[in-house]
Amino acid sequence: MADESAKLLLPNGNSIDLPVYRPSEGFDVIDIRALGKEGYFTYDPGFMATAACESKITYIDGGKGILLYRGYSIEELADQSDFTEVCYLLLTGNLPSEQEKQEFNDKINNHTMVHEQIHTFFNGFRRDAHPMAIMVAVVGAMSAFYHDSLDINDPEHRSTSAFRLIAKVPTLAAMCYRYCCGHPFVHPRNEMSYSENFLNMMFSMPSHDDKPDPVLVKAMDRIFTLHADHEQNASTSTVRLAGSSGANPFACIAAGIASLWGPAHGGANEACLNMLEEIGHVDNIPEYLDKARDKNDPFRLMGFGHRVYKNFDPRATVMRTTCHEVLETMNAHDDPLFQVALALEKIALEDEYFISRKLYPNVDFYSGIILSAIGIPKNMFTVIFALARTVGWVSQWSEMISEPDQRIGRPRQLYTGEKQRTFVPMEDR
Ligand code: SDX
Repeated sequence: MADESAKLLLPNGNSIDLPVYRPSEGFDVIDIRALGKEGYFTYDPGFMATAACESKITYIDGGKGILLYRGYSIEELADQSDFTEVCYLLLTGNLPSEQEKQEFNDKINNHTMVHEQIHTFFNGFRRDAHPMAIMVAVVGAMSAFYHDSLDINDPEHRSTSAFRLIAKVPTLAAMCYRYCCGHPFVHPRNEMSYSENFLNMMFSMPSHDDKPDPVLVKAMDRIFTLHADHEQNASTSTVRLAGSSGANPFACIAAGIASLWGPAHGGANEACLNMLEEIGHVDNIPEYLDKARDKNDPFRLMGFGHRVYKNFDPRATVMRTTCHEVLETMNAHDDPLFQVALALEKIALEDEYFISRKLYPNVDFYSGIILSAIGIPKNMFTVIFALARTVGWVSQWSEMISEPDQRIGRPRQLYTGEKQRTFVPMEDR
């Protein structure tokens, strides 16, 4: 039901009243669906001002640097919650009781193993394959193993698929790393927490018994929480569009992983660390800022800027603090990359080009430094992002599929190609 309406005067002289809906937070939205009958489309490449759906999961206020998961601030969740609790929150809409949390963790633990046949998928890849290429493949292949949970209209099937995806992506992510290193796969351990289990599967060696450092486990868990969901970003929109056709959830999440890989999106964390390494020293920063400002130079400051945040990315603020903590613990607080990052942030935030375009560090600016300090190689950074974002993708996918009037997404276009013309036989060309 519309809260009010907007009158639009059309070029053909007609005017049309368009319903306006008021959100619980954020911008009012104008429902433009009636324009089609008047012979018009709206035009919004990159969806700069388009609400593609209604959602109750995540809210972002780009001007104020606010990020809420089901109404709870990212700062409070990163500080007082943990990742599996955040998974429960995103999936169900509420924080769990002690018992609900234990039952949820037990259900996750029931699904952490992968089918032995999936191991053979890895052998088809070269050892130097990019782990994201492997991740896209093996997550998509999961639909070949779980025929018992592919009926997307069955809430039980949706729930089972959600648990399988959230529980198995850490196992598959660690397998990507181990395969590329030539190390044996490590099975999940149910007595460990989600993040401890992941680090154990990444780094445990049969030759000696060592457990992940609790400080690094907490940092890993916080990184997962910070990356869990982010409204209708490119990869989430990809998952929603793929899911709108009725594709199975494993295929939809594989599509989301593929979209996340781009350096303008989730691939920025790997690109940012490459950039910091290329800059190498604080003295080289001015030269790179000149390149970033140069319109003729395709170079962009990786980890800076955001489509929505035009003040600061609250995740970057939490990430910076976590960075300090981890580097202190690792006795690496004079890490040259961290020094370059701190200096680059300070200089850029005082630079007219960045100020005028409201370019601030985003979630990817500091995450690479922490992941490196934990011992995770650069080519695994976006895999970590995909691992964490799986719960957000699954939550958004499930919300879409549950909508009573859910229909296939099918945008239109502004066609500027050839008008209809007669075919020209080869002899006349
Ligand atoms: C993520 O959407 C999400 O929510 C994504 C994400 C999530 O959690 O899902 O938050 C995760 O993807 C974070 C963003 C990671 N990407 C990067 O760090 C890559 C570097 N950033 C840019 O590519 C860019 O800022 C984007 C892609 C993030 C945003 O692009 P927009 O909104 O399309 O902005 P734009 O390209 O229109 O830029 C506006 C102006 C341009 O200059 P003018 O043409 O106006 O002169 O700002 C400039 C751009 O050239 N600009 C930059 C810049 N980012 C924008 N200039 C130098 N360095 C940059 N990083």
